[in-house]
Amino acid sequence: MIVTFLIISPLSLLIFEVYAEDYNPIYIHLSWQNDTSSTMTVSWKTKDATSSVVQYGTDESYGNEETGDSVEWHHVELTGLSPEIIYHYRVGNGETWSTDSYFKTGTLGDHAKFIALGDTQSGTTARNQMLRKINNLDIDFALYSGDFVEMGSNINEWNGFLNSYEPFTNHIPMMTTLGNHEKNHSIYYNTFALPGNEEYYSFNFGPVHFSILHTYWEGIENENYTKQIDWLITDLEAHDEYDWNVVMMHRPPFSSFVRYHQGWYDLINESFVPIFEQYEIDLVLTGHEHAYERLYKNNVTYIISGGAGANLYDAIKDYRINESISVESTYNFLFLDVYDKQLDVRGFRPDYSLIDQFISNKENKPDLRCENLPLSLDVHWKDTQKVNITIANNGEEDIIQETKAQVEVSDGSSWDLTVPALNKGEKTLFELEWKPPEKGTFAWTVTVDSDSEIDEVVEENNELIFVFNAVKIEGASFFADGPWSIFGVISSIMIVAYVTLRRRKKTLQ
Ligand SMILES: [Fe+2]
Repeated sequence: MIVTFLIISPLSLLIFEVYAEDYNPIYIHLSWQNDTSSTMTVSWKTKDATSSVVQYGTDESYGNEETGDSVEWHHVELTGLSPEIIYHYRVGNGETWSTDSYFKTGTLGDHAKFIALGDTQSGTTARNQMLRKINNLDIDFALYSGDFVEMGSNINEWNGFLNSYEPFTNHIPMMTTLGNHEKNHSIYYNTFALPGNEEYYSFNFGPVHFSILHTYWEGIENENYTKQIDWLITDLEAHDEYDWNVVMMHRPPFSSFVRYHQGWYDLINESFVPIFEQYEIDLVLTGHEHAYERLYKNNVTYIISGGAGANLYDAIKDYRINESISVESTYNFLFLDVYDKQLDVRGFRPDYSLIDQFISNKENKPDLRCENLPLSLDVHWKDTQKVNITIANNGEEDIIQETKAQVEVSDGSSWDLTVPALNKGEKTLFELEWKPPEKGTFAWTVTVDSDSEIDEVVEENNELIFVFNAVKIEGASFFADGPWSIFGVISSIMIVAYVTLRRRKKTLQ
């Protein structure tokens, strides 16, 4: 009997383990299905179907609860939220919960700060490098222009994408469209919660109206575009009060890559470009070409940013078209900063170096601003930091006088900068040195035109705040400046000597 018990007991434990239901929330992500300033949809997956509960509030004690169906793919929309407020939340089924996360609701004001990227496909190494970088940006939301995976029907690839993006999408809402690699697969619709029919839709954030199209079918046999043409016209006419119109879709109507020359984009071009021109779309964001390119035709700017992870395409000189302003074969993301009267788009490589910049103003005035990205950077607290501050005139007029700028750090450090006269489009660089006094978080505030001498196109963008987290970075001090470097060198010599002696001793035995 004891023997039988000893055999059955582990077996039953094993059976219990295999068949135990798993309600652990995974792949948590955020999006909007309705108004961006008063709602937020929280989505997640559980291995087994269970009820959907989101607890949320302005701190970690939550205080509010919203529930949904018993399912595997959970989507719960929170409504009645206040604009520009940080809410904490957790998801679960009432018993099993995720850890705490947070989101910020959209604005009723005149600004929007977001990134755009796409085409990770199966490029996991570059995808993860890119994620580490975009996670440091202080942004309102992200746009993803399609091609999440190599095969839209491959659930393992989707799991890899959603798992790697979760630390980003659990606090930054992401609005998406289908790429040709997803085609129209149900996994996309199960995963994301989007407005309207989710295939093509629109939403508003601050002064910007976004129209999202799909171009997931390859070739020219597609009659799907006709219904999108009608919808797009109706959508643009219903939202003509917005200062800026941005369109996102996966495949571009133009590019300096081979598929454009082979006619693959002809139908997209014929279907949509006349509408973009007639309705004066400010910016058309696409992916599909694994590179960066900015193009301009008939007052419409097109930017291809298909560099979030998939193998890059070569930018071949012979394929360069007249509409192309800037093209580079590089991993990249777009950083877009919009105010009521100004749209500033910058293409960055993953190391935050600038590829290209496009600025559009709707008023004929100068505009001074600090060009640094709003970042939250981890730095080693023992090291002296070299901080480069770039100040630019992004307006439509020259500034003919010197101006003042002020840099203040929350540890009490400060610099008063004299900015030279800057013509339209000119910039100047200041190199500052700063050492964090201790471990902690330090806010940097840069104020341009600090004595308010200049009448600018946008007055609200004169202050930029970014954050340094002074932390102990593992291994970073091993060869750092100062006495630790000596310690590091001596230690490594000792390790090498020890290993060599051990090997010699073994050989002699
Ligand atoms: Fe594609």
